[in-house]
Amino acid sequence: MKGIILAGGAGTRLHPVTLAVSKQLLPVYDKPMIYYPLSVLMLADIRDIMIISTREDQPLFQRLLGDGSELGLRLEYAVQDQPNGLPEAFLIASDWVGDDSMALILGDNIFYGPGLPGFLQESQRGLDGCVLFGYHVSDPERYGVGEVDEDGRLLSIEEKPQHPRTNRAITGLYLFDNKVLDIAKNLVPSARGELEITDVIRSYQARGKARVVDLGRGFAWLDTGTHDSLLDAGQYVQVLERRQGVRIACIEEIALRRGFIDADACYRRGAALPKSGYGEYVMETARKERETR
Ligand code: DAU
Repeated sequence: MKGIILAGGAGTRLHPVTLAVSKQLLPVYDKPMIYYPLSVLMLADIRDIMIISTREDQPLFQRLLGDGSELGLRLEYAVQDQPNGLPEAFLIASDWVGDDSMALILGDNIFYGPGLPGFLQESQRGLDGCVLFGYHVSDPERYGVGEVDEDGRLLSIEEKPQHPRTNRAITGLYLFDNKVLDIAKNLVPSARGELEITDVIRSYQARGKARVVDLGRGFAWLDTGTHDSLLDAGQYVQVLERRQGVRIACIEEIALRRGFIDADACYRRGAALPKSGYGEYVMETARKERETR
């Protein structure tokens, strides 16, 4: 499976913060926002990852993450000139994806909770259709909203409905089989002028091939869409990290734990950031790993 992080858009709801810098590069407490969706793909054992951004922001993402080899990843970069809708990611990535299945994650979505790697790896196995991740929210009208039967099959999906049928938001992490590339080619823009992810999903749902995995109560799916929710997300990460003494979405630690890199490579990454607590944590993680070898 290949992974796509969609990190374009104009970030207008966060202006003026995002006038000169991409939303997905803003800090969520101690690391850039894109570390969070990147870490989700890494936890799913996905190592071929394309980052799609605006043309202006692309060099910044490249400066931050390089070709990924230091993390045992293969990172590709591509441009979306205009925010024409989420499924445009499939058109952009089509050649690179080839015959593979793919995970699409929005660059501003933060997931944190128990069992995430297991969920993701299980959902990838024998993927036939698409797998979506549902989350109970108090304000479903802000999201794609799904109705699901007892077996987890999607019955309906609506984008930002005025009168939502359920409280189940469909989050910004989607697993698709290769058919999504054909579906995306045949999409037409909606009334608001965008290609809609909900239209893609509806096409799977019509064939009974859209499955929803609900992320339970112990799970955090955090919003970064407004100044307040961005600050809340940062504070959430801060509270957990301080209390537990572990870091959330530390990409070096995840690369080490999943065997993408060894302790020496992990240590080198930390040593390059010697003055920050993040760098110290990465070095300490590598030291502990060496001791247990
Ligand atoms: O966060 C989950 C929600 O994401 C889903 O529940 C919705 O069904 C889905 O449409 C989407 O809703 P949003 O209102 O959050 O979409 P937005 O247009 O804000 O785009 C989400 C992110 O994707 C944002 O960081 C910008 C980026 N983006 C968006 C578009 C439309 C792109 O990179 N390119 C685009 O063309």
